[in-house]
Amino acid sequence: MFFEKKTVRGAGSHSYSEICTPRKIYLKRCFMSILRCPVCRQPVETENRTLRCENNHCFDFAKEGYVNLLLSGKSGDDKGDNREMARSRRDFLTKGYFDPLANEIGECVRNYTDDGDAVLDICCGEGYYTDFLAQRFSRDFYGFDISKNMVRLAGKRHCSATFFVANISSIPVEDGSVKLAFHLFAPFHSQEFSRVLSDDGVIVTAVAGRNHLYGLKSVLYDTPYRNDELPPQAEGLELLEVRRAGGEITLNTREDIDALFRMTPYYYHTPSAGMVRLQSLESLSTEIEFVIYVYRKKHSE
Ligand SMILES: C[S@@+](CC[C@H](N)C(=O)[O-])C[C@H]1O[C@@H](n2cnc3c(N)ncnc32)[C@H](O)[C@@H]1O
Ligand SMILES: [Zn+2]
Repeated sequence: MFFEKKTVRGAGSHSYSEICTPRKIYLKRCFMSILRCPVCRQPVETENRTLRCENNHCFDFAKEGYVNLLLSGKSGDDKGDNREMARSRRDFLTKGYFDPLANEIGECVRNYTDDGDAVLDICCGEGYYTDFLAQRFSRDFYGFDISKNMVRLAGKRHCSATFFVANISSIPVEDGSVKLAFHLFAPFHSQEFSRVLSDDGVIVTAVAGRNHLYGLKSVLYDTPYRNDELPPQAEGLELLEVRRAGGEITLNTREDIDALFRMTPYYYHTPSAGMVRLQSLESLSTEIEFVIYVYRKKHSE
């Protein structure tokens, strides 16, 4: 196994223990460095479970341990994925079915970052991948998503990462502070991603490979299609490498089949005959396939 033995260090020069009790998570937050006030962009400090900037803008940590830094609207509850999608994603991913992808992102963390570097999970969902990596690498992990339902579940993971609610169009993170950002199956925003990356930073993004979930689609549709593997429109970014991950998975319970179906876009676009076929299955085998694109900032000659 390639993963590193974990000797956890917090942001700055303060070290903290490997075991992430709530107290130790709180200690980490006292020293956290890359978050910025979403109102005035000034640095924030933690005071009694509140983030506060020098202009006295305050943001409370929720009881699950995340902080809401989304400015538009009163809450992120109605934004992004809903509670049902959030739970399905958590239930499915926690069984490890997509771990070939998690391992490949881990390879990128190992290759492109060092101990203590900031790693950001953009559109982290319910935090499966952030947690997976935070358990294996001593980096300073952050994850955010626009959906409060998702981030609430991420906070409940009680891992060493800091989770916050935010929009990719305005990430409340210091310019140039992130060594590696990863971004899985979510909208892309080149300009914001470049802004938060350090000059030698990389962004790792994954899209569904040609055969991803073809077994599931063969049940749902009379004429299933293959994916196009199109990379994102990565303006201002330069492609460094393309990696692939995948395999075949078998789901042996109705719960797992339902959870997978609910977390895919097919949930909203399946004819009733396909739904009936899926509901009659007690097990399902399908290919999984991911294409991973690694970019760095384009530097002028
Ligand atoms: C398909 S899910 C992927 C989640 C996670 N990366 C994973 O692979 O498990 C897409 C995520 O993007 C989030 N999202 C959509 N638009 C967003 C935005 N503008 N800002 C932040 N997150 C957004 C959704 O709430 C959702 O959690
Ligand atoms: Zn402020």
